[in-house]
Amino acid sequence: MNSELSVDHLLGIKYLTKGDIELIFKTADHFKEVINRPIKKVPSLRDITIANLFFENSTRTRLSFELAEKRLSADIINFSAASSSVNKGETLIDTVNNILSMKVDMVVMRHPNPGAGIFLSKHVKASIINAGDGAHEHPTQALLDSYSIREKLGEVKGKKVVIVGDILHSRVALSNIFALKLQGATVKVCGPKTLLPKHIESLGVTIEPNLIKALEWCDVANMLRVQNERMEINYFPSTREYVKQYGLTRKILDNLNKEIVIMHPGPINRGVEITSDVADSEHAIILDQVQNGVAVRMAVIYLLASKIKQ
Ligand code: CP
Repeated sequence: MNSELSVDHLLGIKYLTKGDIELIFKTADHFKEVINRPIKKVPSLRDITIANLFFENSTRTRLSFELAEKRLSADIINFSAASSSVNKGETLIDTVNNILSMKVDMVVMRHPNPGAGIFLSKHVKASIINAGDGAHEHPTQALLDSYSIREKLGEVKGKKVVIVGDILHSRVALSNIFALKLQGATVKVCGPKTLLPKHIESLGVTIEPNLIKALEWCDVANMLRVQNERMEINYFPSTREYVKQYGLTRKILDNLNKEIVIMHPGPINRGVEITSDVADSEHAIILDQVQNGVAVRMAVIYLLASKIKQ
């Protein structure tokens, strides 16, 4: 395992090594213990200031980063594009350089454009964490997903994971594929052909078009929301058709007659990709994923901040 991260920014899982992921998980194990104590805060980052820049809507990621930063005692400022001078035409680099001039060390950014974090990391002097960039990557989501599989099943290596749904528009799917493959899991994708990227198999995954077969095969099913907000055209005939072919119901789950872990990154579109009695079932670890997000994000922030301090 590494003693420090091999990167100065977290821009995508594709830039990490297996050793980086092991180090993040070991550090997250420590922080998970910390946040389960009566005093949930550590003074580690009292000298670090972090700006959270959200150019797109978020509930889990934004609040989880903010809580992780507060648990580490960092100073934080929150920026929402909707109420900012971005609406007067200010560029991304100008916006961030103005924020950095107030002595900010680290930027957590969600942005609708793929590669926005990579672009920023080349033009500003701060450590950048990608909190989701368009349909490109969502690295902390993939890290907390793998961390949750490791917690539930002991390890990620050797596990069979199927990612179901709108793979084409999903940054969660891409980051998960990179993370799972790096750790030695076998990955299948399952969804309508029109919602699978053309060259998805070049990433070392296989396609299983049939939901039941995919579920019979896997240890873990990661169910994704159909991201209508990223679609300019309809990619399948109707929501009813989608639910019929790819919606996971309690009846399907019971007929499998086996242990299976159900994951979802949220937000859930209940009754479409999964029904409520699946989302709230004993098979689902959806709220564990959210809870683990705080410890995993504490680990990422702490490890990147250690590099700034050197
Ligand atoms: N999983 C996830 O990214 O959720 P939010 O969009 O609410 O942050």
